[in-house]
Amino acid sequence: MHSSLARSAKNAVPLYAVAEAKLRAFLDKRPKREAAFLKGSGFSAHDGEFVIVPAASGEIACAILGLGKGDDPLALASFAERLPAGTYRYAVLPQDFSPSLAVLGWALGTYRFSRYRKKPKPAPKLALPADLDGDEVSRIADAVFVARDLINTPANDMGPEELAAAARDVAAPHGAKVVEVVGDALIKQNYPLIHAVGRGSARAPRLIDIKWGRAGAPTLTLVGKGVCFDTGGYDIKSSGGMATMKKDMGGAAVCLALARMIMGAKLDVRLRVLIPAVENSVSGSAYRPLDVFPSRKGLTVEIGNTDAEGRLVLADALAEADSESPDLLIDIATLTGAARVATGMELPPFFTDDEQLAAELMQSSAEVHDPLWRLPLWRPYESALRSSVADLTNMPDYGYAGAITAALFLNRFVTEAKSWVHFDIAGWTDRPKPGRPRGAEATAARAIYQMLLARYGK
Ligand code: BES
Ligand code: MN
Ligand code: ZN
Repeated sequence: MHSSLARSAKNAVPLYAVAEAKLRAFLDKRPKREAAFLKGSGFSAHDGEFVIVPAASGEIACAILGLGKGDDPLALASFAERLPAGTYRYAVLPQDFSPSLAVLGWALGTYRFSRYRKKPKPAPKLALPADLDGDEVSRIADAVFVARDLINTPANDMGPEELAAAARDVAAPHGAKVVEVVGDALIKQNYPLIHAVGRGSARAPRLIDIKWGRAGAPTLTLVGKGVCFDTGGYDIKSSGGMATMKKDMGGAAVCLALARMIMGAKLDVRLRVLIPAVENSVSGSAYRPLDVFPSRKGLTVEIGNTDAEGRLVLADALAEADSESPDLLIDIATLTGAARVATGMELPPFFTDDEQLAAELMQSSAEVHDPLWRLPLWRPYESALRSSVADLTNMPDYGYAGAITAALFLNRFVTEAKSWVHFDIAGWTDRPKPGRPRGAEATAARAIYQMLLARYGK
């Protein structure tokens, strides 16, 4: 079970979460002394308002959280973020909050990135509601934390090799098989684009390949962008643009989080995870603008811009994934700044031709309050990928719709999969909210998992 949860509610301090519209009814039911205190101190149940009510003995009698409009169950993370160590239980929650999301909110509120600090003070614990089995929620919280830790870890401690070690850590407890293709072996085994992007770094590029599950089950392949640091290469980024590029392996981190959830819940799938892990560096051996490379799929690619590296490493990984014609192929990548311009960090766009899949994703996204937004694979923009010397360029000849043209580039390498969806994620939170601190985020992981659970759960 997740370390912030407890099975026994013995001596647990009650917690109350109240939306503004329900405040009056709430106060009517509270003991007179407490209601007078809340009124006297001006408690209005606005979003994030937090009060600890002392008992006559001086101990904590209860804690009360304002929810404002009351539309975000993850707002309950505020309890875990603000209470001292101890055991607590939910006494009153809005009726439309699902118990599992309410508990997940608590668990997410206990996240700290503590790799480089003294151990943080012990987190408070929440007693599970009687009717909830905490294992599923725990697995989700643990998986989200794994992804956040991987993304938050700076590139000096999270290169391609360390990312592979993290993949092995995810695979091992479930008996999943891991294979790696490293360095020059990428050339021999025909992954020219992964090699081209990664060859400028002293840390060898690699393709990480995880396999798990019953032969004969529906085949699901996850492909995650694992650019451990993106300098932009010779088309070097500005210092502002480069600042957060340790997160450029966010797609890989989310794929590993998903793999953990999928294997933990024993979903009935034949799972494969492919992670091209590279560092996009500047050096005497780095690839250059206007270099031309073959790709695994056979298409030649002209390098219009060394900073459009994500689509290159994904192209080879997708071609390999696609060659097995999986039932479902999902790729997840911190692929474009343009996706952030279009929908911001909090609303990751996805692209697919599969109407049914798109509907399931939107449904799942709403169910677990993990937002997604569909953008079109608008084929008329494909002409922007034409090159004068190769089959296509990685730098679209069109200054707009960069998230769409990136998705269309990837689409050129997917022809056999029964169904394909591409997620362009931020992997990062710049406007913190309860349970979603500034820094790394497992963007879209919970929404995608919910869709998979509905499809392949027992
Ligand atoms: N990793 C970046 C995309 C990115 C930027 C994600 C900022 C999240 C926040 C990617 O490799 C990149 O540099 N893309 C370029 C593509 C362009 C050169 C066609 C971009 O978006 O500017
Ligand atoms: Mn880049
Ligand atoms: Zn990148």
